[in-house]
Amino acid sequence: MGYYEDKILPHVVQFTCGMPAMRKVRRKATAGLHGDVVEIGFGSGSNVGCYPDEVESVTAIEPSDTAWAMAADAVAASAVPITRGGLDGQRLPFDDDTFDAALSTYTMCTIPDLPAALAELRRVVKPGGQLHFLEHGRAPDESVRRWQRRLEPVQIRLGGGCHLTRDIPALLAAAGWESVGLDQHYAAKTPKVFGALSIGTVRALD
Ligand SMILES: C[S@@+](CC[C@H](N)C(=O)[O-])C[C@H]1O[C@@H](n2cnc3c(N)ncnc32)[C@H](O)[C@@H]1O
Repeated sequence: MGYYEDKILPHVVQFTCGMPAMRKVRRKATAGLHGDVVEIGFGSGSNVGCYPDEVESVTAIEPSDTAWAMAADAVAASAVPITRGGLDGQRLPFDDDTFDAALSTYTMCTIPDLPAALAELRRVVKPGGQLHFLEHGRAPDESVRRWQRRLEPVQIRLGGGCHLTRDIPALLAAAGWESVGLDQHYAAKTPKVFGALSIGTVRALD
């Protein structure tokens, strides 16, 4: 991870994704989580405070030391115990069937080998466990998609590898996750190229 991604980008992400107005949609994504949860791309802890009471622990996967340090106060104050369990969602240092559920918010756009990360989550989540997600990606409208394709090279450079055109539900399905619920809409007050949201829950196919 380079200097920009580790030291500067977490502050940009906190500013753009950590606004209090986004807590409503974060709560929608975390609703129904329970037990021991692994959260990939934990960032600076923007989901802390949005976990339901039924969550017993959160194991954070986050490569940026700066983002993890920014989360320190929220982690310390959290009613749910939170520990940093790893650095890379593509290689999770856990036994099979370790967690009851998984969470990813605004992270599937960035992980370089997303199929590898989705396979790792399938491996470490217990049978029947669910992956909750809140992600931006490929827009439903071709006119928006055209701009997403144009802007993606710049976004990848400035956004630490953030892609605009990933079809998150399709990638989840290809990785063997079955949809339980999905809501797709454009985020309010956000340019559509960045705001095509997918919020949902999937469970691993047997
Ligand atoms: C746009 S931020 C989202 C942070 C947070 N989840 C949120 O909702 O605000 C993407 C996060 O993914 C992290 N990330 C990048 N590559 C990763 C990887 N291979 N495994 C896990 N997390 C990764 C980044 O460090 C960053 O914190």
